[in-house]
Amino acid sequence: MYADVARDVIGCCRSLATFSDEPGFTTRTFLSDSMRRVHADLSARMTRAGMSARVDAVGNLRGVYPGASAGARRLLIGSHLDTVPHAGAFDGVLGVVMGIALVETLHGRRLPFGIEVIGFSEEEGVRFGVPFIGSRAVIGEVDDALLAAQDARGITVSQAIRNFGLDPGRIADARADASPLGFFEFHIEQGPVLDTRQLPLAVVDRIAGRSWADAIFNGHPGHAGTTPMDGRRDALAGAAEWIGRVEEHARRTPGLVATTGQIDVTPGAVNVIAGRCRVSVDVRHTDDDVRTATVDRLRSLAHEIAARRGLGIDWSPRLAQSATAMDPSLVAMLTRAVERTGAPRMIMSSGAGHDAMILAAHMPAAMLFIRTPGGVSHHPDESVAEGDVAIALAAGVNFLDELAGSIDG
Ligand code: HGY
Ligand code: MN
Ligand code: MN
Repeated sequence: MYADVARDVIGCCRSLATFSDEPGFTTRTFLSDSMRRVHADLSARMTRAGMSARVDAVGNLRGVYPGASAGARRLLIGSHLDTVPHAGAFDGVLGVVMGIALVETLHGRRLPFGIEVIGFSEEEGVRFGVPFIGSRAVIGEVDDALLAAQDARGITVSQAIRNFGLDPGRIADARADASPLGFFEFHIEQGPVLDTRQLPLAVVDRIAGRSWADAIFNGHPGHAGTTPMDGRRDALAGAAEWIGRVEEHARRTPGLVATTGQIDVTPGAVNVIAGRCRVSVDVRHTDDDVRTATVDRLRSLAHEIAARRGLGIDWSPRLAQSATAMDPSLVAMLTRAVERTGAPRMIMSSGAGHDAMILAAHMPAAMLFIRTPGGVSHHPDESVAEGDVAIALAAGVNFLDELAGSIDG
């Protein structure tokens, strides 16, 4: 029924994927110039759909479709417009375009609630190492510490906002209007579960908690050719041992994933023993006790390895996010909406973090996953199937219908 709309949505995402900070790849970071082009394209699409579009003070794109009565509460629908480096075409942006497409299916019909489609400006945390700037502004949680965060060039978040032509003094205006009905996010699964089970969709019941930290090993640089192996204080060798133990611990712990994704080595020369090595770690689990116990264990392991190798160790926590349950009544409503499409029922947790976990602190939140062929994501080969997007749109239309019915009821 929505095959044409699905084809158009996928085409739109692929076109937006060419708006990038890095020619030849899809890399779109917080308030970069390429974000302006995304705002321009999607604002025009929002306006054509009968929405009023604006960019708020942290660069979120906001499109409002009024409800039947003035002052009607709003359902927020959205996802993020920024990407990881060398991303695919669908992580985040698909949820924004599908939100607009959902409004387009109404063809001007008014519901007992308004709809606000939000394209969040920063979810991945690539530019400033701090994720969720956009969604945190919508719930009023952007603080001075966040505004002072600096990127690799020493530009602060506030300066980046001003450089984009926005006013950091207006961030309070980015807060969601009074008591939204809730938040709904379409998002690709980004993993192999739906593809392996040959299912098109899943309703998300819980989002895993996430911790980020840096382990910084400090040794003594030396000449690679003249320094005997005994007595070396090699920061990189110490970090490498720790990285292996991180993976070993994660493999042994059911339901846990741990990733050391970044490494910086100083001085980083072929013929110099490393004096300093910073390694990032990302730890996730749906049970916060397991996640926090793991972080404690990995920190102790870093200290043990450093002590044995005569290295210094600094442990720098960067992020600690609790696991987040989606709203049970919205989960039930969305499950009914999916079942009405004829698609099999599937409820699952999310290993990936999403804006929904930020909004959920302030309003009922729900997510609908769309199959990711091959489970490939955060990669240029990321894809979605037209048929799955069409079913997801049908489920979205049913969800609006269920929500309207619950209000009228
Ligand atoms: O890291 C994540 O889970 C998401 O892609 N931001
Ligand atoms: Mn992502
Ligand atoms: Mn995402």
